[in-house]
Amino acid sequence: PRHLLTLDGLPETALSALLIRAQAFAEGHYDRRALDGIAVCTLFFEPSTRTRMSFQLAAQRLGADVLNFDASTSSTRKGETALDTLKNLEAMGVRGFVVRHHEDGAVAALAGHVNPGTVLVNAGDGRSAHPTQGLLDMLTLRQAKGADFSRLKVLIVGDVRHSRVARSDLQALRTLGAGEIRVCGPAALLPTDATLQGCVVSQDFDAALEGVDAVMMLRLQRERMDEGLVTSLDDYHRDYGLTAARLRRAAADAVVMHPGPINRGVEITDEVADGPQSLILTQVRNGVAARMAVLEALLRG
Ligand code: CP
Repeated sequence: PRHLLTLDGLPETALSALLIRAQAFAEGHYDRRALDGIAVCTLFFEPSTRTRMSFQLAAQRLGADVLNFDASTSSTRKGETALDTLKNLEAMGVRGFVVRHHEDGAVAALAGHVNPGTVLVNAGDGRSAHPTQGLLDMLTLRQAKGADFSRLKVLIVGDVRHSRVARSDLQALRTLGAGEIRVCGPAALLPTDATLQGCVVSQDFDAALEGVDAVMMLRLQRERMDEGLVTSLDDYHRDYGLTAARLRRAAADAVVMHPGPINRGVEITDEVADGPQSLILTQVRNGVAARMAVLEALLRG
């Protein structure tokens, strides 16, 4: 595809090719002039630490000119729309846009208005998709467990309903043929649409953990308390917090993942987040390589 808006529908061959290329980048094999003369802008209308910084680093490592758009100090504060903002940056010669927006479908909508040579990457839209997070998560799993996902039991835990990360991870895990995908969380935080098709769904975290090879924790979005979907942080931690004692139910060599930012002491304890089974900072490191692979594929063809 010309843009990367979602992992939904991306063929296994294309997904695996990106992962193989990302692995080469992770090992330091890259051409610092690959995107020479190409301007890339990180266009974020929502906060970010990992995604925005790693895209900037990825573009810089490939030799692109990198612009960082900060909505809070931009003319969007004077009422300029996201589309007008993009079209003005496009007029300056920017060819690649990495876009995060709070509305579902916002990046796809922008893609309908860009010039023929312009490329968009979805860096997270609403609760819909975060495709490069899905990619970096698969790269991390692949490094830890090998390229054959067919025997893997993977558990995704927490606020799946509002999570674009979970949607992209689920799509990628299905495409790569994961052996068993389990999903666990309180009923109020589980989606009721087709998102969980084919997954083993449970509200019992202890039971869901039995024998899994990877536990992918999700951030409890604190605003869910205002919506009444979570009663208290203490209750959430008691029922869905990953502790060292709980983790012992998983396979002995199970890995723990979390997209960040983490709520320490809520969905995960310090002991687990910083422990030997945690790949949380490996995920972050892989984010640069995965994003290099995406920028190269879209901007060099
Ligand atoms: N995982 C992730 O998307 O983090 P940021 O919101 O900090 O980019």
